[in-house]
Amino acid sequence: GLLDELRALEQQFEVTPAKLKQISHQFEEELKDGLAKDGTNISMNVTWVLGFPTGDERGSFLTMDLGGTNLRVCWTTLKGQDAETEVIQEKYFLPTELKTGSADALWDFITNSLAEFIRSQRLGGTREEPLPLGFTFSYPAIQEYIDHGKLQTWTKGFDIDGMEGEDVASQLREAMDKRDLPVKLVALINDTVGAMIASAYNDRETIVGAIFGTGCNAAYMDHVGSIGKLKTDLPPDTPMAINCEYGAFDNARKVLPLTKYDEAIDRDSPRPGEQAFEKMSAGLYLGEIFRLILCDLQERGLIFKGQDVSKLREPYLLDTGFLSSMEDDPFAATRSNFEETLNIQITWEELQLSHRLAEVIAERGARLCTCGISAICRMKSITSGHVAADGSVANKHPKFKARWAQAMGEVLRWPEDRKDDPIIITSAEDGSGVGAAVIAAMTLERIEKGD
Ligand code: BG6
Ligand code: GLC
Repeated sequence: GLLDELRALEQQFEVTPAKLKQISHQFEEELKDGLAKDGTNISMNVTWVLGFPTGDERGSFLTMDLGGTNLRVCWTTLKGQDAETEVIQEKYFLPTELKTGSADALWDFITNSLAEFIRSQRLGGTREEPLPLGFTFSYPAIQEYIDHGKLQTWTKGFDIDGMEGEDVASQLREAMDKRDLPVKLVALINDTVGAMIASAYNDRETIVGAIFGTGCNAAYMDHVGSIGKLKTDLPPDTPMAINCEYGAFDNARKVLPLTKYDEAIDRDSPRPGEQAFEKMSAGLYLGEIFRLILCDLQERGLIFKGQDVSKLREPYLLDTGFLSSMEDDPFAATRSNFEETLNIQITWEELQLSHRLAEVIAERGARLCTCGISAICRMKSITSGHVAADGSVANKHPKFKARWAQAMGEVLRWPEDRKDDPIIITSAEDGSGVGAAVIAAMTLERIEKGD
């Protein structure tokens, strides 16, 4: 019966404390491997952000963020850590077909939006005095310097021809030149690094910038001397921010507790075999896992008998918001979600099952999300500090942070009766608005000093 099915699913999705520790230890191995050599699974990308900000960075900067759903363009004015940062922003909806279209179409859309923003905000800028731009590009990129980045592979469902293996910074520069935009690209930034630096601008306790959103990844501050693969003249004690790109953790599938639903998601994704960890824990996939389980139970005649399930068959129809609202308000929200989004009249038994499934999937995701961060902390002997978190799952899922904190205690073996957790999750300051501006300011300062 249905109850037996549910028990079996609960078991498959359970991540015990022992399993968490096993995953976290394997994680540490892969992080170390990525620092030592090129071409490893977790790529541990050097970002050329050489240390935390002082908090004195000032000035106005153009910033742009190519995220999952929107292109966000901001004009950000930093006035030092003690004054409020000003962010004027505009969002440009990124049409779905652009995510799997051509590079030219993407750059046209981006430069059109930039031009429109500069015009409507009357920002000026000239060939002699171009507007400085920090570009948050939240995909894995190998950087040889800060305004360079060769896209390794698309993630999060993007699949645009003509960009993998290419330097996206020079593609952007070329596209801006073609339109004669008075803009100078100063820095290419991963969103995790943006979150870390934006938070560190005000909060000295920041140790990690983490995104729990459409994708799942983190950045932390290391030193040149610990990055075996890096050939540079910089002294070994120079700080260097590392973008882990740990969504790719365990692509070899040694320790992750994959279910047949996870395997189906991977099989039908644009890049099968890649981002194994991300596909189990990030917001793009949680709703899809839920949908696949319901489809499976329906096909086996266990639920939604006699109902039209054509809507339910649509891949990626359900987002994390669907699951979040079910946890917020288990019964009323669940019932109306099913009616409105799926056109399904749900029974009391199905309602309870769905609610429990939403819990089980989100809980597995939140628990897995502690493995990468606990591994960074163990590797760097960090015993306290703030994990600056951003992204739709961290910010909008009602129970994510509490589950994360609980699991973090289990994996790091904090005593049950602890009063304060030494490593806590905080809400990141706006990474692609503030973080990109702070990094652009730090970069211009270094250039001025001739470093
Ligand atoms: C935003 C940050 O708040 O969150 C971006 O400014 C980041 O830099 C984004 O990429 C991640 O969240 P999501 O849910 O859109 O993937
Ligand atoms: C994906 C991207 C990574 C990004 C993360 C969060 O994992 O590859 O660069 O930081 O999503 O947005």
